[in-house]
Amino acid sequence: MDNGVLMRYGFDGARNGHWKAREMEMALATRMGSKHAHLVSSGTAALTVALASAGIGAGDEVILPAFTFVASFESVLALGAVPVLCDIDDTLTLDPRDVEALIGPKTRAIMVVHMCGSMADLDALKALSDAHGLLLIEDACQAIGGRYKGKALGSIGEIGCFSFDFVKTTTCGEGGGLITNSEEIYEKAHAFSDHGHDHIGSDRGAEGHPFMGYNYRISELHAAVGLAQIRRLDEFLEIQRRHYSRLREAIEDLPGVQMRRVPEGGVENYSFLNFFVPNAEVARAIHKALGAAGVDAAFYWFDNLWHYHRKWDHLKQLHSLGKLPEETARAVAAYSKRDFSASDRWMERNLSLLVKLTWSEEELERRAAALREVLEQHL
Ligand SMILES: Cc1ncc(COP(=O)(O)O)c(C=O)c1O
Repeated sequence: MDNGVLMRYGFDGARNGHWKAREMEMALATRMGSKHAHLVSSGTAALTVALASAGIGAGDEVILPAFTFVASFESVLALGAVPVLCDIDDTLTLDPRDVEALIGPKTRAIMVVHMCGSMADLDALKALSDAHGLLLIEDACQAIGGRYKGKALGSIGEIGCFSFDFVKTTTCGEGGGLITNSEEIYEKAHAFSDHGHDHIGSDRGAEGHPFMGYNYRISELHAAVGLAQIRRLDEFLEIQRRHYSRLREAIEDLPGVQMRRVPEGGVENYSFLNFFVPNAEVARAIHKALGAAGVDAAFYWFDNLWHYHRKWDHLKQLHSLGKLPEETARAVAAYSKRDFSASDRWMERNLSLLVKLTWSEEELERRAAALREVLEQHL
C-alpha cells in the first residue's frame, strides 16, 4: 500500500522491490511441484488462458464433465471452441469410458474437473490423452491441496488451474492461477493474459506483441492477500480434514449411506463431504431437512442451476448476447438429444456438504449430531 503500485507489471523504480504477484507465483509453483505458475484474475480466466495457451480455438472440441461449474464451458465458448459434455461416474468427475467414446477427429483437449475436493481416475485419463495426442487440463479450482499418487492435483496434466475466489480453500477475493511444466505454455500464458506483451525488458511501452491477447491480469492487492493465504494452505487443509472426518464419522455407518469413490492413490482436499443415498426422493427430503435443522451449505446439485447440465437452459437454448460460431451452436444444440442418464443416476442420489474452516468445536459437534439425526430419520 505504501509504495502505491497496485499493478503487477512495470513501475520498477516506484515499487521499491515489491512484486507480490511474482512472489505468489513462486510460492504456488513450489507448493505444487511445478516449474511455472502464472496468476490471473479468476479461475475462469485461468481456464480460458490455459486453453488459449495450448492453441485451442474455433471448432476445436474440448471434453468436459456434465457436472462442473458453468465456468468450464464458458472458457471453451470464449475461444470459439466447442464444449462436449461427458458423463460422470461415482467419483463425481469424468467417466474415462465415456471420455473415450466421445474422442473424435476434432477433439483437442480433455478438461477434467476435480469437483468438490476430489479427483477423477487420472491414470486412465492420462493414458487416453497420451494415446490420442490430446491435452489434459486439470480444473483443480475446488480441490487445491488434494493429491493423486503423491502429486499435487493440477500438476498431473499439461496445465492445472486454480481459483482464489471468495468461497475457495485459499482466497484473495477474486483471483486464479495456472501451473505447468511447459516453458512454451507458460510463455504464451503470461503474454496472452496481458494483451500479448512479451514482458521482455523494463519499458512496458516498448515491449513486443508476438500475438494478440486480452487482459486477465491479477492486481498486486489481490496477489498480496493470495500470497498470505497460500502460505497457510497446509494449515487450512489440516482444519478441513479434521472437520470433514468428524462429519464423515457421524454418518458413514448408517445403512443407505454410500460415500463418493476416491480413486486409488487419491487424497482429497476435504473441501466437501459427498455421499449418495438410496434415491432422489430421499435425497431431496434430506436436503430440505438439513436446511430446517440449521445445517447450511448443504447442496443437492441435481436441482442446482449452476453446477449440473440439467438446468443449463441458457447454454442448451443458446442464449448468448451475440452470435456464436456455427460449429459451436450446432454442437450445443445436439446436447438435448444426448442421454445423460448415467450421470443422473449418481447426481440424483448425491448430497454434498461444504466444509468450512471457521467452525468452532461446538459448531462442528452440533452439525455432526444434526446431520446424523436427519439421516436417521429419512433412511
Ligand atoms: C470447478 C470450478 N471451476 C472454475 C471456477 C471458476 O472460478 P472463479 O470463480 O474464480 O472464476 C469455479 C468457481 O466456483 C469452480 O468451482
